[in-house]
Order: sequence, then structure tokens, then C-alpha cells
Amino acid sequence: MNESSQSLPSTDARDRSPSTAEEGFVKELNRLIGVVKIHEENNRLVIESAENFIRSISGLSAEEDQVTIQFIRGQVFLQNQKIPYRRDMEPILHKLCDYFSKRGIGGLRFYTTISEASTRGLLTFARLLNQAGNEKNGLTWFARKLTDERIAWVEIVHEPLAREDDPDSETLDLAAIAKKTYVQVLASVKEVARKVRAQERAGIGKTLRMAQNMVDLMMADASMFKALSTIRIYDDYTFSHSVNVAILSMCLGRYIGLSKNSLERLGLCGLLHDIGKVEVPEEILNKPGKLSAGEFEEMKKHALNSVRLIVKIQASRDRKARLLLPPFEHHLKYDLTGYPQTDRKKPITLFGRILTIADVYDAVTSPRVYRPTILSPDRALGMMLKGAGKDFDPILIKVFINMLGVYPIGTLLKLDTDEMALVKETREEADRPRVLLLIPNGRGGFDPGEKVNLDARDPKSGEYLRNIIQSYHPSAFNIQTADFMF
Ligand SMILES: [Fe+2]
Ligand SMILES: [Fe+2]
Repeated sequence: MNESSQSLPSTDARDRSPSTAEEGFVKELNRLIGVVKIHEENNRLVIESAENFIRSISGLSAEEDQVTIQFIRGQVFLQNQKIPYRRDMEPILHKLCDYFSKRGIGGLRFYTTISEASTRGLLTFARLLNQAGNEKNGLTWFARKLTDERIAWVEIVHEPLAREDDPDSETLDLAAIAKKTYVQVLASVKEVARKVRAQERAGIGKTLRMAQNMVDLMMADASMFKALSTIRIYDDYTFSHSVNVAILSMCLGRYIGLSKNSLERLGLCGLLHDIGKVEVPEEILNKPGKLSAGEFEEMKKHALNSVRLIVKIQASRDRKARLLLPPFEHHLKYDLTGYPQTDRKKPITLFGRILTIADVYDAVTSPRVYRPTILSPDRALGMMLKGAGKDFDPILIKVFINMLGVYPIGTLLKLDTDEMALVKETREEADRPRVLLLIPNGRGGFDPGEKVNLDARDPKSGEYLRNIIQSYHPSAFNIQTADFMF
């Protein structure tokens, strides 16, 4: 399968895909609010609508005891995740944002105890919500009425995700959402892996939504999204690595101009590329030191196993077919000398070539207990460049280096001012990044200091104020990069 032959559909495929549980809930909320305006409470449509609304909540709250919907600056968030704008959802999302903003209500939290609420209680709630629009202070009026009616399965959410009066709040909140997304993505990949291993039904829906969220995050702030790949969860190495490979692949995909749909699929391929590792014995997977020839053969099976397990995931044949090749190819190498060996002589696909680069970069910059030396990110890139044309697509590897910058995010630097600094932000293709100075805290660690631009010059002499002497991997100084990133 050649990526270029997979021509992009003229309409967004998401517009035609079935509704997600989140969208279902939003639609039911919208319907409930609308239906009580027209019909009496014993009307069949009203009763159905109330029942469907309750059902849509229980469908969402499998892991939590509540469902929170928030309306912030024209966007709808469910459980802190933005609901993506699909063409058929757009009018509903806009309408609800206007509806709640008119009442001064930032959001609602429904508890699962709603399943015991009567249809009447639900209708009262919806009617009060409608009436709140006629009140001068809809929010206070509605809150008081809920108490009067003893409706305890819903509460008003006061704290918005971002405060309008704090210029930094949007960035801070985006960072918080980004971190939360990372954890949720990790959990969803783990869950799929657990299920396929236990031969339970594993759906792709949640992981797909996660990939969509990741694309949205990347579009909102590409630099911060890239920084997410510095998070490493040691206890969950395989899965944390998979999330990082997805992030780095998506960043490279965006950089070369892939469409949103393609980026989602690339993200999914990254998330699932090593899923076959669930079948590799733990002692081989976590073996300190070099693998024996036999162990390595065992380890090599994971690429093909990933393909076999993806086939077992519940998803349309079409979708699965488009997820198989890149994970199969991720160790094949650009010159096809890697594994699994087959007779085919066709070059590996674009997604396969992207995954290979992201995979190796994350692996060689990941501190593992058994690895005595760990390459700093810039040296890892230098090493990878030597494999151009052999291990890696010679053009893509250069594009990847351009994208990450000479000193990628998360590189630890020693400066000629005797200061230590962590690369916090890179401008694409720039070799003087923005860094966070690290101040020794006297207890062997560091506290975050000032953020400075390494391209700042002394106004009199024109000389750079700070120059890089050496780079390190942060783990060489026991620094958890992500602690200083967000
Ligand atoms: Fe792999
Ligand atoms: Fe991998």
C-alpha cells in the first residue's frame, strides 16, 4: 500500500462515521432540552428522551461516577476532552454553547445516581434550565431551584478550564489538558493491549478518539505537543514508548503537511505499533543487558504479532487494513534489511518510514535501567543521521532533525556561564533554543529558574550572552524532564 495512492477523501471521513458515545450524550442533552419545550411530561417522546439521556450517561461513565460537560469559549468539553467539530455536530455544539452562555452556566456535572432519578425529575431539571434563560441571573436562579427541587444528581460546574482574566491561564490549562491527555492515551493503549492479550473484545473507538484529541492538541500548540514526548513512564515503558512514538510521528507528519485524517491514522499506528510486545515474555522484554540470539529472535516476533493483534481488534475491515502495514514495517529499515524478512521488494510506506524514525529516536533517548550510557537528544540525532539511506529515509531523517531543532526539547545543556539549562522550546530549524535555567537546590537537585533565549545578545558587544558548551541527557543528572516542562 502506497501512502500517496491513498487519495484523501473529498469530505472528512469523520463526518460520515457513526456518533461517538460523547456525541450521543451531547445530542441527548440537546434533545431533552428541546423536547420539554413542546411536549407535556406524559408524552411518549418526552419519556423516551429522558430514558435515552440517562442511558447516554451510563454509556460514558463506565470508569467514573460522573460525567462533566463544560462550555468554554465556544467549545464543548466532556470529561475535560474537547468534542471535535464534525459537520453534523457543529450546529448542536454552537447552539448549546450559546444556550449555556446565555444562562451564565459554565458546565454541568451529572452523577451516575441519575439512573435512579424519575422521568419527572429529569423533566423538571430540563424545564428549569429553559426557564433560567428568562431570569436576570440565570445561574443563581437555576442553582437555587435545583436545591429547592432536591435534585442532587446534577451540579453546576463553576470552575472553567481557563480564566479569562489571566493571560497565562490558557497556556497553563492547555498544558494541564495535554498532560491529562497523555495519561488517558496511555491508559487506553494499555487497555486495548490487556484485552487483546486476554482475548477479550477490544474496540478501537476510544483509542481513535484519543488520536483525534492528540491531533487537536497538536493543532492548538505544536511545540507543547512535542514536549509531551519527553514524558516517560518507566513502569509502563512499552506503552509510554508507544505514546511517544505516536506523538513524534504525528509531529513529523504535520511538518510534512499531512491532512488531519492522515495524522489521526498515523497516531493510531504509533499507538499500536508495539502492541505485539504483549506476547513477548516479560523476562526478555525487561532483560537487563544484551539479549541472546534466541531471545532476540523471540523479540523480533513482536512486529508480526502487532499485525495479528490489530486484526483482532473490533473495527471495520477498512480501518484495520489501513493500520496494518506501518506496524509491520517499523523494524524493516529503509533498505529492507531489518525484520520481519519477506520476499517483497517494495519500498516501505511513508507511515512505515515515519514510524521507524520516531521509534528509534524515542528508544535511544529513553533511559532504561540496563543502559549504562544514554545519548543526549542532539547526539541521538547525530547518530541516526549516519543511518540515512540505510536505516532511515534519507530525506525524512533530515526533515525530522530540522523539525526537532539542533538541540531538541528536553536536552540538558551546560552553558559557558557555568549554568545548566533545559531546552524548553525550539523553533524549527533554529540552533539556539529557548531554555529554562536550572538552579542547583543544594540537595543534589535543581529548581526551575528563569526562561531565557539563547539567541539573546549583549546590546553593546553584539556577542551572544550564553553559549552552549556541552549537551547531556537529563537522566545523567537525575532530572525528570517532564517535571520542568509543564
Ligand atoms: Fe518495535
Ligand atoms: Fe517501538
